[in-house]
Amino acid sequence: MAKRIKAIRGMHDILPEQTGLWQHLENTLSQVLHSYGYGEIRMPVIEVTELFKRSVGEVTDIVEKEMYTFADRNNESLTLRPEGTAGCVRAAEENGLLFNQVQRLWYRGPMFRYERPQKGRYRQFHQLGVETFGMAGPDIDAELILMSARFWHELGISEHLSLQLNSIGTKECRMRYNAALVKFLSERADQLDADSQERLNKNPLRILDSKNPETQALLNEAPVLLDFIDETSRDHLEKLCAILDSNGIRYELNTRLVRGLDYYSKTVFEWVTDALGAQGTVCAGGRYDGLVEQLGGKPTPAVGFAMGMERLILLLENISKPTDMVPVIDLYCIAFGFEEKKAQMVLAEKLRRFCPDAVVITHCGEGSFKNQLKKADKSGARFALVTGEEELKNNTVMLKPLRERSEQKSFSADDLAALAVAISR
Ligand code: HAM
Repeated sequence: MAKRIKAIRGMHDILPEQTGLWQHLENTLSQVLHSYGYGEIRMPVIEVTELFKRSVGEVTDIVEKEMYTFADRNNESLTLRPEGTAGCVRAAEENGLLFNQVQRLWYRGPMFRYERPQKGRYRQFHQLGVETFGMAGPDIDAELILMSARFWHELGISEHLSLQLNSIGTKECRMRYNAALVKFLSERADQLDADSQERLNKNPLRILDSKNPETQALLNEAPVLLDFIDETSRDHLEKLCAILDSNGIRYELNTRLVRGLDYYSKTVFEWVTDALGAQGTVCAGGRYDGLVEQLGGKPTPAVGFAMGMERLILLLENISKPTDMVPVIDLYCIAFGFEEKKAQMVLAEKLRRFCPDAVVITHCGEGSFKNQLKKADKSGARFALVTGEEELKNNTVMLKPLRERSEQKSFSADDLAALAVAISR
């Protein structure tokens, strides 16, 4: 036998038994987005590598070690997108959506990162992302957080999620803070693990994110980022908090929240859960006022977030899978011979047009009547629709209930209305 080819490590198929829940999630999110006036944008999954280097940042984990980068046949360096913000900015700028305009955009699709796979962390995963442009105030930051809270409410997962919020100020504040942090930590470098020691030289802010309890204990004494932020950033954060307060949104000000991508300024936030173990961040984002300009556009304020769809699916599954996600089959059509089948396939087409919500499956292939009936039962269908010799002759069909103990009933094959009433849920 030929050797089987398997999916790539960390990349998964989503099977029909799972897609019901995915569709429920996607439909719920897109309805909410629609009600807030957001428009969908679709970008390519591959971009030139330079785009991610210049946006996500050269010394981030993503760019340093997680990108799927390759040379195309023309020797151009391309990358499978590790995230959506950079491509969205590129697309919005390239298509003239940014100049003198306000935009509220969303996208969804696969993203690719060469990370060590584990529950909730994959090499191909899906994000739904939201990006807004042209609005500089804290009101739009608040709108994004309120909208994400609405997602959780509609999905019934609010009680499992909490909001972490911080401001990382402007680039200048961060440079001043970096200097103070490096000074503090350098004097205690012997107490840092190898990872943090490396970060001390390359990207000291990321040490705040360390999972190491000793490092976290050390940071209790360290300078605090919020103490270094400028008046404007502070005022922005205060107003954002005030809007959240007046909407009853609870949050924790986490002065160590810095995010792993370089483009942020001012507001950053994450929605986290403790129901998923180590990969507890289901949604994350923040303001990135400098990015459009950094990528060659005019200065444009921007803020957005993205959520990990697999993590939301895991959370929904944890909480209990709603049973109405499993598709119901209403009719399973079975016929005796070829003439009967022909007539029945015409009727099945008419029924699908007449009752667009009904799920009608036609038995395809050979099989005795008994065998077909068994298949109908196994499919979980509510009714079998039977066309035998007698029925063909009389232009009727037999409707046989499969899930309840009631009599089978004959219908005229032309009386679609009566059939529709009989199978209605
Ligand atoms: P991020 O924090 O890198 O931000 O990713 C956002 C979310 O994607 C994470 O919170 C997580 O739920 C999910 N995610 C990330 N990596 C993986 C993975 N390997 N497997 C499964 N899920 C994952 C961004 O990507 C920014 N572009 C968000 C943003 C949009 N900021 C502003 N606008």
